[in-house]
Amino acid sequence: MSTQVTLIPGDGIGPSIANATVKILAAAGAEIEWDRQVAGMAGVARFGDPIPDATLDSIKRTKLALKGPLETPVGEGYRSINVALRKTFDLYANVRPAYSIIPGGRYHDLDIVLIRENTEGLYVGVEHYIRVGDDPRAAAESIAIITRGGSERIVRYAFDYAVKHHRKKVTLVHKANILKFSQGLFLDTGRMVARDYAGQIEFEERIVDAMAMNLVLHPERFDVIVTTNLFGDILSDQISGLVGGLGLAPGANIGINGAIFEAVHGTAPDIAGKGVANPGAVVLAACMLLDHIGDEARAQRIRTALETTIREGKTVTRDLGGSASTDQFTDAIIAKL
Ligand code: NAI
Repeated sequence: MSTQVTLIPGDGIGPSIANATVKILAAAGAEIEWDRQVAGMAGVARFGDPIPDATLDSIKRTKLALKGPLETPVGEGYRSINVALRKTFDLYANVRPAYSIIPGGRYHDLDIVLIRENTEGLYVGVEHYIRVGDDPRAAAESIAIITRGGSERIVRYAFDYAVKHHRKKVTLVHKANILKFSQGLFLDTGRMVARDYAGQIEFEERIVDAMAMNLVLHPERFDVIVTTNLFGDILSDQISGLVGGLGLAPGANIGINGAIFEAVHGTAPDIAGKGVANPGAVVLAACMLLDHIGDEARAQRIRTALETTIREGKTVTRDLGGSASTDQFTDAIIAKL
C-alpha cells in the first residue's frame, strides 16, 4: 500500500530539486503518493499566506512532509513558517546527520548524527527590553526555558535513535558549569535517561565550548550528539561544514503529530532557474523519510547510488566540482539504482 506524503516543493531552486527527488524515488520504486501543497512565497502568491491552511491540513492528514527550501517573506503580519510548523506538529526533535561523501576532503571517516531539541531553550521567544532612566532599551533579557519533560523526551529520542540505527554512543552537550539551573536540569535529566540504556549505549558528557574544539580536532570520535536548541543550531552547521557544506545536508523535524523532512540549505536565489542546483540534500532528506516509514533498504539503495555518482565525480553539479545540470546529475543517480 502506498504512503501519502505532503510535498512542499518550496521557492527558488526548491521545485527543480523536489522534482528531481520525486523522479529518483519513483525510479527506486518507492510507493509514495505525493500530495503537492504550497508554502513560502508560493503560498503568498496563491493564498496570500506563507503557510496556508490547506498545507497544514494536508500534513495533519498525512503526518509526513517533504519540504523544499522556503523564502521567508519579510513584512508585517506574515506568520513564521517554521514556528507555525513546529508548534502545530510539536516537532521537538531536529535530526541532522552528516557523513563524509566527497572524496579528498579534510575528514574521510565521519558519520555523526546531531539531535537538537527544537522547542525549548533560548528559542521560546520570551524576550523584553528593560527601561533604565529615559532609555527604554537600556538592557534586554532573553529567557531560556528548559523543562524536565522536554529534556527527557529529546534525550530519550537520541538513545532510541542510537539503538534503532545500531550506533554505539550518545554524547550530551551542555553548559551546566555556568547555566546551573537550565543547563543543569538538561544534564541531570540526561544522566537519568542514560541509566536506562547502560550496557547498551555508551554515554558521555561534553561542555559545549570544548565540544566545538573537539569536533574540529577529533570529529571521528563522535557518533550521536544530543543538545539543547541554540547549541544544536550552531553545532549542526559546524558538523555540516566538516563534511563539505550545506549542499548535501538533510534534516528531519520529528514530533508527536508529524514528521517533516527537508534540506538544510535555502532557496539559493543566485542560481534559481538556471537548472544547476544540487538535489542531493533533498534526496537525502527523502531517504530519511523512507527510513522513518520503515523502507530502509530502499533508502540505502538510493544513498549508495547518490554516493557512487558523487565519488565517481563525472556527472555532478557545479557545487560538487562538476559541470552537470540538475537533470543530468539526477539521471546519473537513477542509472546507478
Ligand atoms: P542558501 O542556502 O539559499 O544559499 C547559500 C549558498 O549556497 C548560495 O551560494 C547558493 O547558491 C548555495 N546553495 C544552496 N543550496 C544549493 C544547492 N542545492 N545546490 C547548489 N548550491 C546551493 O542561503 P541564503 O542565500 O542565506 O538564503 C536564501 C533564502 O533561503 C532566504 O530567503 C532564506 O530565508 C531562505 N532559507 C530557507 C531555509 C529553509 O526553508 N529551510 C533555510 C535557509 C535559508
